Amino acid sequence: MKNIIPIETNSWKKLNNHFNKIKHVRMIDLFNNDANRFKNFSITFKNKILVDFSKNRITNETIKKLLNLTIETNLSEAIELMFTGKKINQTENRSVLHTALRNRANTPVYSNGIDVMPMINTVLNNMENFSYQVINGIWKGYSGKSIKNIVNIGIGGSDLGPKMVTQALKPYKNHLNIYYISNIDGNDISSILDNNHFERTIFLISSKNFQTEETITNAMTIKKYFLKKAGNKEFMNKHFIAITSNIKQALKFGIIQKNIFQIWDWVGGRYSLWSAMGLSIILSIGFDNFNKLLHGAYDMDQHFRETKFENNIPVILALIGIWYNNFFNTETEAILPYDQYLEYLPKYIQQSNMESNGKNIDRNGNKVSWQTGPIIWGETGTNGQHSFYQLIHQGTKLIPCDFIAPINTHSHLFHHHKILLSNFFAQTHALAFGEYFIKQKNNICIKNSMKININNSQFKYFEGNKPSNTILLNKITPYSLGALIALYEHKIFTQGIILNIFSFDQWGVELGKNVSTEILNILKNKTNILKYDSSTNGLIDFYNYFNRNH
Ligand code: F6P
Repeated sequence: MKNIIPIETNSWKKLNNHFNKIKHVRMIDLFNNDANRFKNFSITFKNKILVDFSKNRITNETIKKLLNLTIETNLSEAIELMFTGKKINQTENRSVLHTALRNRANTPVYSNGIDVMPMINTVLNNMENFSYQVINGIWKGYSGKSIKNIVNIGIGGSDLGPKMVTQALKPYKNHLNIYYISNIDGNDISSILDNNHFERTIFLISSKNFQTEETITNAMTIKKYFLKKAGNKEFMNKHFIAITSNIKQALKFGIIQKNIFQIWDWVGGRYSLWSAMGLSIILSIGFDNFNKLLHGAYDMDQHFRETKFENNIPVILALIGIWYNNFFNTETEAILPYDQYLEYLPKYIQQSNMESNGKNIDRNGNKVSWQTGPIIWGETGTNGQHSFYQLIHQGTKLIPCDFIAPINTHSHLFHHHKILLSNFFAQTHALAFGEYFIKQKNNICIKNSMKININNSQFKYFEGNKPSNTILLNKITPYSLGALIALYEHKIFTQGIILNIFSFDQWGVELGKNVSTEILNILKNKTNILKYDSSTNGLIDFYNYFNRNH
């Protein structure tokens, strides 16, 4: 992998000059000057997903110059290194092989000289058998009754991905109730403890390292309550499952070997829903649908690996993201799904993007002087429209948006979907063109409209020129969802490579974890010896005072 400093490349310098020339260009003019702009600036994937990136402040020249950046930073080589299991996660000395987890061609993929496909297939088979037994009532709880509830206990990537997919594919759901517990806050787990159905519940303890404080504390609490109710340690074998790479710790916890589904060090937490971490997904929608999810992701992998970059969806979206974040200094991106079942998608992409590319040290070990990962946030449409869209339309910030919607809905209330989609189309149009079209249509002079001061019109003025990508899916199916998730994974990868950072570690979360362990000891011992700054000391003192007196 080449560690090229992006801002020192010729393409970056040319992009800088180009930016100065076109920073004030208006999308209305770009569209007026190119009748084929939609056709020229959109790509379809397998006739199932359309990505329209025409409503951006870019020209053919911009794309050409951004594509040069992929050549100078040797993106093609990096893609091959990832797919072929080279240790591109250098700070942890690991391969990055979530693509192998969905390698439907089943061709050999090597990590450390070992083909990982046979072990992936073994775990997949075990997951298929296990889920078949649970879903069909063959697997019985300790009282002899079939299973009704699945509780996934995990956090970060061991929670967000499976939770997002399970919710997105609700129309494919079977009779099992699926719950997700992540927070260490006792309020999160109490609903599970309060319910009295342990005899019909399976707990999936999902933790790659099986040491994550939140997950292990929650798991221990569940175990304690379970044993109190069931009265026999042996009964755990029918109710406790581990998903982990740390088999030793899982055994120590009391989970038998047969109930452990393995993942490996080359599966990153936030890229793990395709692995055994997806067990709750399989239990919710069945193995065949999970397989379709893998197929969708696999086809997007092939698209990413084999398509020329000018027609490569993840690459184009990654380049547009770099364009805004680094040249327009936008800093942020909004993810706006127009589908209620995609409600967790913004949160999921938030973790995968911000934990991957939230880095300020480059691959040479030096502090960066360019922008890396953007701030990701979002909300379902139309809820967002009645909340923060005001700022996107008329605020002082430029916020690039991804609008995502299915053409066909699973809901039988088709007229609702038409209204939803009319909002979806209207928003990207209004953001891009403001009032221009309306005024042109009505033959109203649009020049100097800011200065017109009749009926407070300046307050009602929509300037437009706000960028967005539109992603239209035929329907939210396991296949199209798999492809959509893989699209975002590869977008993040592409940005990490070009911006010369390591996307697959997350050292930034470690310091907070270490300090909290130390503070926990202080809180437990109620000691007054505090060695932090005056604010932290003051806060802990205040806590201790209240704790002593209440
Ligand atoms: O937040 C840090 C992190 O390591 C994430 O990357 C990961 O998804 C999460 O914690 C949970 O880790 P584990 O699965 O090992 O419990």
